[in-house]
Amino acid sequence: MKKTFAAGVVACVMVAVVWADNRDGHVYKKTASVHDLMEYMVKPAMDKIKTYREAGGPSGKDEWKTAFGAITMVNEAAQLVLMDGRIKDDPWRDGASQVIAASGDAMMGAYRMDADGYGKGLKAMSAGCKTCHDVHKKEKE
Ligand code: HEC
Repeated sequence: MKKTFAAGVVACVMVAVVWADNRDGHVYKKTASVHDLMEYMVKPAMDKIKTYREAGGPSGKDEWKTAFGAITMVNEAAQLVLMDGRIKDDPWRDGASQVIAASGDAMMGAYRMDADGYGKGLKAMSAGCKTCHDVHKKEKE
């Protein structure tokens, strides 16, 4: 009985979420090139993360909060490369999906100030970058 009730609540929440989504009535339309998403959204976030890593951190609440925020940008960018006709092939889709999942783990690590979970999430995230880059990011000549 309790289970049925819980399932009912979950179903209602899901309906509400879908409804809220449609109610917004906004259709995403890309404005940035993939290059610009990488240069202006992903790179600054990764630079911040790299600075902390080189200092052996993040350390302290503020740095963990900033690390969390930086990773949310990477997560958002990885979602954007899957939208509005940007997907090119399977490595593209797989790489971005890996980044989305792993950045979620890294965000959880940062939120908990758990260096181990954070590090593992970031490592898996980089593997996702590589999956797409191996095929789609050409070396500069
Ligand atoms: C779905 C594919 C895809 C994924 C996933 C992806 N990238 Fe990229 N990235 C690209 C492409 C395509 C380019 C080349 C863009 C261009 O210069 O035209 C690029 C270029 C870049 C650049 C160079 C930008 C510049 O200033 O020239 C950086 C830095 C970068 N990516 C970082 C990352 C990081 C870090 C991740 C993972 C967190 C990541 N990318 C994930 C597709 C991807």
